[in-house]
Amino acid sequence: MAETRVMKEKEPELTEAQIAVHWREEQYYYPSSKFIGQANLTDPAVMERFGEKNFPECFREYGDLLSWDQYWHTTLDTSDAPFWQWFVGGKLNVSYNCVDRHLEKHKNKAAFIFVSEMEDEPPVSITYQELYYRVNETAAMLRDYCGLKTGDRVTIHMPVVPELPITMLACARLGLVHSVVFGGFSGEACGMRAADSGSKVLVTIDGYYRGGNMTDHKEKADLAVATAAKEGTKVEKVLVWRREAKKYHSAKPMVAGRDFFVDEILKKYAGQIVAPVSMPSEAPLFLMYTSGTTGRPKGCQHGTGGYLSYVAGTTKFIQDLQPEDVYWCMADIGWITGHSYIVYGPLTLAATSVLFEGVPNYPDAGRPWRVAKRLNVNIFHTSPTAIRMLRKAGPDEPAKYDYHFKHMTTVGEPIEPEVWKWYYEVVGKGEAVIVDTWWQTETGGFMCSTKPGIDPMKPGSAGPPLPGIYPAIYDEEGKEVKPGSGKAGNICIRNPWPGMFQTIYGDRDRFVRQYYQKYNRDKNSKKWQDWPYFAGDGAVQAPDGYIRILGRVDDVINVAGHRLGTKEIESVCLTVNEIAEAAVVPVADEVKGRVPEVYVALKPGVASDGIEKKVIDAIETQIGKIARPKKVHVVPDMPKTRSGKIMRRVLAAISNSLDTGDVTTLANPDIVEQIRVMVQGDKKVVLKEAPEDLKHFGDER
Ligand code: WT7
Repeated sequence: MAETRVMKEKEPELTEAQIAVHWREEQYYYPSSKFIGQANLTDPAVMERFGEKNFPECFREYGDLLSWDQYWHTTLDTSDAPFWQWFVGGKLNVSYNCVDRHLEKHKNKAAFIFVSEMEDEPPVSITYQELYYRVNETAAMLRDYCGLKTGDRVTIHMPVVPELPITMLACARLGLVHSVVFGGFSGEACGMRAADSGSKVLVTIDGYYRGGNMTDHKEKADLAVATAAKEGTKVEKVLVWRREAKKYHSAKPMVAGRDFFVDEILKKYAGQIVAPVSMPSEAPLFLMYTSGTTGRPKGCQHGTGGYLSYVAGTTKFIQDLQPEDVYWCMADIGWITGHSYIVYGPLTLAATSVLFEGVPNYPDAGRPWRVAKRLNVNIFHTSPTAIRMLRKAGPDEPAKYDYHFKHMTTVGEPIEPEVWKWYYEVVGKGEAVIVDTWWQTETGGFMCSTKPGIDPMKPGSAGPPLPGIYPAIYDEEGKEVKPGSGKAGNICIRNPWPGMFQTIYGDRDRFVRQYYQKYNRDKNSKKWQDWPYFAGDGAVQAPDGYIRILGRVDDVINVAGHRLGTKEIESVCLTVNEIAEAAVVPVADEVKGRVPEVYVALKPGVASDGIEKKVIDAIETQIGKIARPKKVHVVPDMPKTRSGKIMRRVLAAISNSLDTGDVTTLANPDIVEQIRVMVQGDKKVVLKEAPEDLKHFGDER
């Protein structure tokens, strides 16, 4: 039955926890004995070893996966709660841990295998030995040519090419803080982030292949520099890698004195070795901007020792990465998944990690499986969106290629059980274990997942928390929803863990407000027990302890596994002159999960011609194509409460053909039906089953 929602103003006692969630428990799938026989983690006592009575010292096991210049004296320091500090007193260098220390045993092993989108270009392997030189030379350039010093921020706006992780590792070698901006983001979005981080150097590339075309990427750098300047930050140098030697794939000229071709400068530093700078464990390693509930993206700051330990430990235990494996994570390095599970986790373990430049279905939906066969990939990692896309475009393709995965990962959004089963049966050929990993930019690494050699899998469910992670589901009032009751609530993590981000760059107050205020028990407390971390996701826990993530409980839209703030898109809409008001809502999409849909009301007397195009252009130039709305509706007025608040929940219901609930208390109830007819036509459609995040999108919380 479609649920009739009563407005919060009238019935504040209605909480998430009281809303029953109906879903069928799927049957278990068990890992094969072949997988278990070789797995890194098969000892069920791991949960006890990482249990609360051994916290925080249990995380020594992860810290000990690294090489420390100086061992730490305090595993967890809570004195500046909730700014937790891990492995205090310890010193280390990340590039040393990812590269130098592997030379003795693995110098001839491929660290990366780069696969161009152009299928006639053979894959390129970069050994640890070669990586060592390339990282050192790049570090020499950043230090001596750019004058960068430990602690300086560097913005990197690049696609997945080897030069991206090389630049990241070169930064890490010097203790520079890198801020990688996803290559698909616009120049303006990059410029805003460069300004927020105060980057004086921008590292970019002339172009790259996408869907069979060479894109002009350097033009975005010009826009980024101009945008940063408007925001008060002068980008002094733009370093331009070249996708193809001696060519220049951009229509934009190089700006004299500002833009430099990296290959030309590097000649000066050929063969130079730069001593890795020994960094305190708590020093920042990188920023990763992500969307939140307010307009501006926030720079999540990750640390050095804690972060690297956590990604190393979880790559070992959950990805089951071993020396002989060929591991391919198809994510983009410009997102946290790529940082943690293409670059830092695998390299810390001396693994071989595949870098794929292209889109998965170019030139056809068989491409990923040809890559898998040719490189003999045996661990595969991707998102539900990519799986849905490949299933739609080529459901029978995997069977045509003789590859064999032992392990597959899904990440970024909830996966529908039917899609999970296709992944398992067809992509994995019934042989591979699957982990559905729930985590976030903020968490640095996995929070919930089955342990692949221990726990059975359950389609559609992320599974139990990772070792050393103690989650709880709370209702709006802060009461714990009974564990295993199957009732929905807000998932929190009760304890700190080493991969947790350190702060929002330059905004400590927002960090505390956004993640801790809601469930903090005493703001002066120095005890971690008083500071549950609020993740912003709805979740339910089944009687077997498995956690199923329902989606965001805030105004964030998860598009193809990537977060976009509705407020962020709305503020872009308001830069279109004719627009008086804008509301952005998520709408369900067969492939991408959710996509934004835009409602705008115009200023009095202006014409509505061409508004849709103006809005789309504004969104694409200020954020990027990823935020492109499915539709733009120009409406006569927004549905509003008597206090003037736009009822986004009502608009989301209309866009998704859900029941709009009781709208009689609105200031302008008649507008709802008008908009509904505009969007849906005369025939009223109401879907019976509403996904949890859409039912409650826009509710006041
Ligand atoms: C949001 C975080 C984690 C790296 C990629 C996204 C959603 C993430 C799952 C999953 C259901 C998931 C959550 C989370 N999410 N993984 N396995 N099942 N939902 O990182 O951009 O920071 O987004 O993605 O809503 O809060 P992100």
